[in-house]
This record gives sequence, C-alpha cells and structure tokens, in this order.
Amino acid sequence: MASRGGFSNRLGFIAAAAGSAVGLGNIWKFPYEVGENGGAAFLVIYLACAFLICLPIMLAETAIGRNTRLNPYGAFRKLGGRKWGIIGIMGVLSGVMILSFYNVVAGWAFGYFLEIGFGGLLSKGLNYGDHFGGFVSNIWDNLFFSIGFMVLTALIVAGGVQKGIERWTKILMPLLVIMIVGLICYGLTLDGASEGLAFYLVPDFSEINANTFYTALAQAFFSLSLGMGALITYGSYVGKNDSIVGAAALITIADISIAFLAGLMIFPLVFSQPSIEANAGPGLVFVALPGIFESMGSVGPFVGAIFFLLLCFAALTSTVSLLEVPVAYVTDQFKFHRKKTVYGVALIIFIIGLPTMLSQGASEFFTKFTFYGGKDIDFFTLIENVFSDLSLPLGGFFIAIFAAWKWRDKGFQKELYFGNPQLEGSVTEKVILFMVRYISPLVVGTIFVISVLKIFFN
Ligand code: PHE
Repeated sequence: MASRGGFSNRLGFIAAAAGSAVGLGNIWKFPYEVGENGGAAFLVIYLACAFLICLPIMLAETAIGRNTRLNPYGAFRKLGGRKWGIIGIMGVLSGVMILSFYNVVAGWAFGYFLEIGFGGLLSKGLNYGDHFGGFVSNIWDNLFFSIGFMVLTALIVAGGVQKGIERWTKILMPLLVIMIVGLICYGLTLDGASEGLAFYLVPDFSEINANTFYTALAQAFFSLSLGMGALITYGSYVGKNDSIVGAAALITIADISIAFLAGLMIFPLVFSQPSIEANAGPGLVFVALPGIFESMGSVGPFVGAIFFLLLCFAALTSTVSLLEVPVAYVTDQFKFHRKKTVYGVALIIFIIGLPTMLSQGASEFFTKFTFYGGKDIDFFTLIENVFSDLSLPLGGFFIAIFAAWKWRDKGFQKELYFGNPQLEGSVTEKVILFMVRYISPLVVGTIFVISVLKIFFN
C-alpha cells in the first residue's frame, strides 16, 4: 500500500470525497436542472434519489475500493473476474469523458473570475445573457481558460493523493459555503425573492413526468460522484480501521446540503431579475449572478470575483478526482510511472474535450452535431447524455448488483465491519443490505426501463 499512497486518516478521506462530490454539479448543474424540470417537485425526487438509492451505492463503491486497493477495473477484475471488469472499464471511460466536458465548464468559471476581477465585466452595462452566448463561442479565450484548468488539475494529481487533494479541500470548501450563505441572505432582501422561494420549495407535482425521475436520478449520481468508480478509487486509499458507513453518510449530507443551498441562492436572484428565466438552461448561474453582483455597487466586482474563484476551487477538487480514476487505472494495470501518466492522460482528455468546447457556437458542425428528442443536439449535450446521465446510473446499478449479489456476505458485509464492529447484526446493517440488494437496483432499473421505452415509443 505504501507505494500507492493513502489518506492520512478518516477525515482526509471524507474531505477528499466531499471535495470530489461538491463541484459544478451542485452550483452550476443542479440549479439549472431544477429550473428546467419544474422546481420544488424535482428537488423532492432528487433528495429521495440521493438518500435512498445513491447512499447505499456509495457504501458499495467505497467498500470495493478499500477491499481491493485498486482502480475500478482492477477491483472488479479481482473480485468478480473478467466479465465484471467491463463495468470497471466503463467507469474509467466515463471518468475520461466527464472530465473532458467538465474541464470546459470549469474553464467558463475561471474565465468569469478573470473577467469580473480584472476585466471590468460588471461596469460595461451588458446584457449578461447575450454576453454568455458570446463568451462560450469564443474558442480562443476558452482554450486559454481550459488549458489553465487542466494544467492545475494535473499539477495537483501529480503531487499525490494525500498532499495534493486533502489539503485544499479542507480550507476552501468552508469558505465557499460562507459565500453562498451570504448571497442567500442578500437575495432574500430583493424584490421577487418570495416567488423564487415558492418555485424552489413549494412542489407542484403536476410538473412531474418520467423524464423528471430520470434527470433527478442522473443528477444525484453525478453530484455524488457515483457510478463510475471515483469512490472505488478514493476508497482504495482508505485505512482498514476507518469506518466507511458514517463517512458515506457525512459525504452525502454535505454534498446534498450544498446543492440545496445553491438552489436557495439562485432562485430568489433569478426571480428578482425580470429578464432572466428559471429554465434558462446551462447558462443559468453565469447569467443570473453577474447582474446581482452589479447591483451591489462598488463591492460587486470583489464579491463576484471571489465567488467565481471559489467555484473554481470546488470544481478543481472534482476534476482532481476525475483525473485520478484513469491515472490509477493506468498506473495499477500497466505499472506506468505516475507523474508521466498524469500529464499524458491529462493531455489526451484535454484533446477529447476540444469538440465540446467548439460545440457552443464556435463550430456549426459540433453545435448541431446530431438530432434527437425533437431538437438539434450539440456535441457537449451528447457526451453528457451518454457518459454521465446514462452511464452513471447504469454503472451504479451494476455496482449494487455486484456488491449485494456476487460479492455478498463473504466480502461486502465483512468489509463494512472494519472500523465499525458494532455494525454486525445491527438494524443499520439490515437496512443497508436491504437497500443495496433490492431498493437501489430495482428503482434504478425501473426508471431506466421506463425512460428507454419512452424514447422508443414516444
Ligand atoms: N460530483 C462532481 C460535481 O458535482 C462531478 C463528478 C462526477 C466528479 C463524477 C467525479 C465523478 O461537480
């Protein structure tokens, strides 16, 4: 184990895994999906998915990682043989593809930090909706921002698990939360805040359809970094004396709370600006926040720059975990030199991300890449649909089936007892096993089948 490195203690793992979970998924993606999918009703389904389906799967992932001390492919291969290895490979591939687009969005956040902090963005009297459209289609700026982001990610991952990942998370995440709470307080003083709160907190279940369930489920997986083996990989660095049950609960609560707060921040701000719609899509935070910072007067640029800087750090602890997965795969399986692997893999993923960058208006070909569901789909959306929305719940389904039915009591149950001996025979244990065996796979499977049927028969 010494050569692979490990977290210094349980808190180190919790910090790193929470750092992986908390990111653009919470602050960029969650609010716009709530906005596009009917508000509070989506929130309710999302919370149910997170705790009933994802939390048990998080335990399964972490247990598999800690038991094998391997990357996702190596872990499945070792415990389940060649066929199960495919699930690991699918996870590694999803990690690569998710990072390829995640890095582009992180680049947007980085760009907004620079433009607000140093480019006088807030003093130009802009329409921020138009500005965002122009911003994402400017390929040269985006190249610069996303190269910067990938280099930072690679430097941290090359620094090793413990020193690189743990340290930053512990300092910067609390700062981000303080900033969000501050913006919530400010937002509540604005006209329109109560409508925003009602949209976010008072469910209207007539807004729900099969797609709402699927989107909420996929979002819960993405936000908790589940279904592709990120937590198998991080779990492989956890000590045998550390309880993973309490850790998983804490990570889930931390991640979901921050997503919840991000919604509480955004919707009053959105409803206080008549020109902005809740269903604005992926640009929502980039469109809704600058106008608010502008309205703060002379402190606006300062507050805005810090906000986007902290968002970058939240994204960075996530990109680090995404890069760590293929890096662990290559170094474990092929015994490659770690540092060279980090830079090589980062470069490849950056290149894979180029079409995504071009698909936001810069290139007509990638912007209207394909057609389904009655509309043109850009390359970014396609990759997100396949390697995140589809692949993560599917991966989670197999992880649950594997832990509960194949690896079973010989392995899975015993692994949960390490660092947590009082679990044996307890009610908590029974609940966990019931969830992993039946609830998680059944619910994910049902939502899947219904969604697939809808695509084909609609
Ligand atoms: N959970 C991260 C976020 O919310 C994204 C992520 C997905 C990270 C999958 C690792 C694995 O931003």
